[in-house]
Amino acid sequence: MTVETPPLLVIDDVVTEYRTATRVVRALDGASLTAGRGETVGIVGESGSGKSTLGLLTGRLLPSGTRCPRGRVLVDGESVLDLPPDRVARLRRERLAFVPQDPIGALDPTLRIGRQLRLALRDTPADLAALLEQVRIRDPEHVLRLYPHQISGGMAQRVAVAMAMARKPALLIADEPTAALDSQVREEVLRLLFTLAAENGTTVLWLSHDLGGVARWCARIAVMYGGRVVEDGSTADVLSAPQHPYTGALLAADPARAKGGTRLLTIGGTPPVLTDDPQGCVFAPRCDSAGDDCPAVRPAPRTVAGRTVLCHHPGGTPETVPARKESAR
Ligand SMILES: Nc1ncnc2c1ncn2[C@@H]1O[C@H](COP(=O)(O)OP(=O)(O)OP(=O)(O)O)[C@@H](O)[C@H]1O
Ligand code: SF4
Ligand SMILES: [Mg+2]
Repeated sequence: MTVETPPLLVIDDVVTEYRTATRVVRALDGASLTAGRGETVGIVGESGSGKSTLGLLTGRLLPSGTRCPRGRVLVDGESVLDLPPDRVARLRRERLAFVPQDPIGALDPTLRIGRQLRLALRDTPADLAALLEQVRIRDPEHVLRLYPHQISGGMAQRVAVAMAMARKPALLIADEPTAALDSQVREEVLRLLFTLAAENGTTVLWLSHDLGGVARWCARIAVMYGGRVVEDGSTADVLSAPQHPYTGALLAADPARAKGGTRLLTIGGTPPVLTDDPQGCVFAPRCDSAGDDCPAVRPAPRTVAGRTVLCHHPGGTPETVPARKESAR
């Protein structure tokens, strides 16, 4: 009898709401995502689609006052949203690592880089200079003695990657880890990050705007829109034959994919900022394929061409079957 290994990460139908003095922003609106051990998943979508919120949620790192009125998050079978604080801290320490969108802001301004690396590694013996050399930092002994304000954004990102990977985490959440790097260093750091992840069996969630990078490094892609994962499948399949109209529009608007001499398409309108339970499909006002049902009926997940799609009128294949029933709202 074969026993199936449970996925390392399960995010199931999560709603997340930020509360500011003046309003509520529903950043996740029933987001679901599963990742197996050692899987590499690129999470893409326009600004504000909920990528960072999804990443922070996984480590229960959202700002205080943020609410999750619905859904569950399991890491290695542990229900992250229900754990007492000491168990969450242990989970982060032992199994999770983050490379944040703003690495300088995430470093302690009062501690030298070397001291921060040592603290992050705790009792794990490591050659700190060698760790920095791995991420192509020249003169690492000198950098170890510097404070965060004395290094550039690009160098801080490389320090954050070194710090995260040195602990051989089960799950790495990397939020635009190479955005501040020039293209050659970006490629080197990504190669290193994904090579180390493969060696250590680390699952990677890479939150990114870089579709080309995701195509190179991630086996799976999850496309987010309006706080939901609207298409999720093998990167090769999704990028070569998108089924959700939003994925198609996102690809058509990617400058890196544009053919020379052709005009780059843009996605008309603006992404939604949700404040409560929306009706229907929130992409409807911008969607060329929208039908009469779209503004009124919320799309449930269904399997289309081997991937999960949230759309009433997916493109491409005529054969569609329901994937799973969406929770009652
Ligand atoms: N701390 C916060 N307080 C209030 N609203 C927030 C906060 N953080 C994010 N939001 C809002 O939540 C929504 C989702 O934001 P999020 O940062 O998760 O998107 P993103 O996909 O990571 O965007 P980007 O690509 O710009 O990083 C947006 O409408 C954003 O303005
Ligand atoms: S459900 Fe309708 S509006 Fe939404 S993406 Fe699909 S076709 Fe477009
Ligand atoms: Mg973000």
